[in-house]
Amino acid sequence: MLKILPKIRRPVRCLSAAVAARNEGFAKVMQSDLLAFENFLGKDGVQKDDISNHITDWTGQFKGHGSVVLYPKSTEEVSAILAYCSRNKIAVVPQGGNTGLVGGSIPVHDEVVLSMNKINRQFSFDDTMGILNCDAGFILEELDNKLAKLGYMMPFDLGAKGSCQIGGNVATCAGGIRLIRYGSLHAHLLGLTVVLPDEQGSVLHLGSSIRKDNTSLHTPHLFLGSEGQLGVIASVTMTAVPKPRSVQSAMLGVESFKKCCEVLKLAKSSLSEVLSSFEFLDADIMECLKSNLDLHPVLSKSTPFSILVETSGSNEDHDMEKMSAFLDECLSKNLILDGVLAGSSADAANMWKLRESAPLAVTRDGYVYKHDVSLPLENYYELTNVMKARCGDLAKRVVTYGHLGDGNTHLNITAGKRCEELEELMYPFLYEWVVAHGGSISAEHGIGQLKLPYSNLGKGSEERLLTKKLKNIFDPNGILNPYKMI
Ligand code: FAD
Ligand code: MLT
Ligand code: ZN
Repeated sequence: MLKILPKIRRPVRCLSAAVAARNEGFAKVMQSDLLAFENFLGKDGVQKDDISNHITDWTGQFKGHGSVVLYPKSTEEVSAILAYCSRNKIAVVPQGGNTGLVGGSIPVHDEVVLSMNKINRQFSFDDTMGILNCDAGFILEELDNKLAKLGYMMPFDLGAKGSCQIGGNVATCAGGIRLIRYGSLHAHLLGLTVVLPDEQGSVLHLGSSIRKDNTSLHTPHLFLGSEGQLGVIASVTMTAVPKPRSVQSAMLGVESFKKCCEVLKLAKSSLSEVLSSFEFLDADIMECLKSNLDLHPVLSKSTPFSILVETSGSNEDHDMEKMSAFLDECLSKNLILDGVLAGSSADAANMWKLRESAPLAVTRDGYVYKHDVSLPLENYYELTNVMKARCGDLAKRVVTYGHLGDGNTHLNITAGKRCEELEELMYPFLYEWVVAHGGSISAEHGIGQLKLPYSNLGKGSEERLLTKKLKNIFDPNGILNPYKMI
């Protein structure tokens, strides 16, 4: 049944037109503030020049005006920064690896950037219980590499793993390509150390470092997807998972979206406990990968849809047997047109290269309108068809890839450059369509600046009010990451 949609603000995509006016209640950073920062961080903890990497996002669509980046080296230094900024009403943007795709880690006006790049020393791991405790500034791939030596891996994986940080992953509740198997970060988070933006820079140790603890509200989970609104995450305690000894990957060519869903159903029932990824690419993203990055499909036939399916287990013979039986059944039921099973890790890497290069390929068209919505599967690809018809020739490409196994589509609409006419056709139509069909306007990337005009869609007024009340408790002066999600 279609839902009644609330009214939303003018349908502008964020960028210059939609940026909120500077809150004049915030102080501007003065020379005396810089000296105070240098006093408790040291000169190397305060950077005023060459900060463009910290005030521009990965897509290049968000460029902030911050004039200083702070690099604390410890939780105590984060606390000193937040206490000072809170007392002096200086707005602050927490920043991890700056790979977010909604402008959440970029200052809007003159907010100070608090970079977590140097908070990456403490690491400990219990290799019996599989419990990791580490500083928030560790890069995801570094953690994965450290855990690999101990027979474990992180329970999630993203194309941005070489730059994103575990603190940023928690703050965005990152999804990625293993969620179908290991669940979301909600299933893994046990505890956090957070620093509040209050006048004491209060340091809170939330949750615990044991697997089961029902003695309180699960307060660390409030920070999952909090987008730097409630406090700065300084360290993370979470579960990791055993590193699979056998990984099998296959690329399948499918003729219709309906059949892709049937393949998913079959994968869930016949690969069941070893199924670890089920990723989707349509023919338009394949074409984009070829023309923009010279990356060629691994399948010999060109098919309307491709699926990358992966299993992770502990016994190669067993997993191979399952994968082969699954592929045979796909063929015998006429669900696939073509299929390739990776014969080596290099073959598998080629398959993943296609999927993981999709975000980069679309940027090469000039300008990309990114989406990360989730939808019931009956509407998943309908959205792509609806938007193709709606955008017509104004779009350079309308391509789709995504985490089909999680109902999460990444519909990307490209143009040679930013095009207001196209934006007016797309928004708010696209987001209203998603909510009207029972979906979420953000399955992964969050609200940030990008989706702020639409953030009320799909959320009731009581929930929005509760969120604002929580924000006021954590951040009484409203200095943390203003003009964004809440
Ligand atoms: P940042 O971009 O620095 O920050 C993101 C938000 O978190 C901001 O609001 C920031 O203020 C806040 N924040 C960061 N660190 C902290 C902290 N320590 N304390 C409090 N707040 C903090 N996302 C997915 O979910 N799934 C994917 O598959 C995926 N693939 C990607 C592929 C590519 C190529 C790229 C560029 C991005 C991808 N992303 C994906 C988006 C992005 O990588 C994730 O959102 C990631 O979790 C962000 O981590 P980060 O450290 O870069 O955070
Ligand atoms: C992905 O799954 O590749 C990411 O979420 C990034 C994107 O949407 O482009
Ligand atoms: Zn994604």
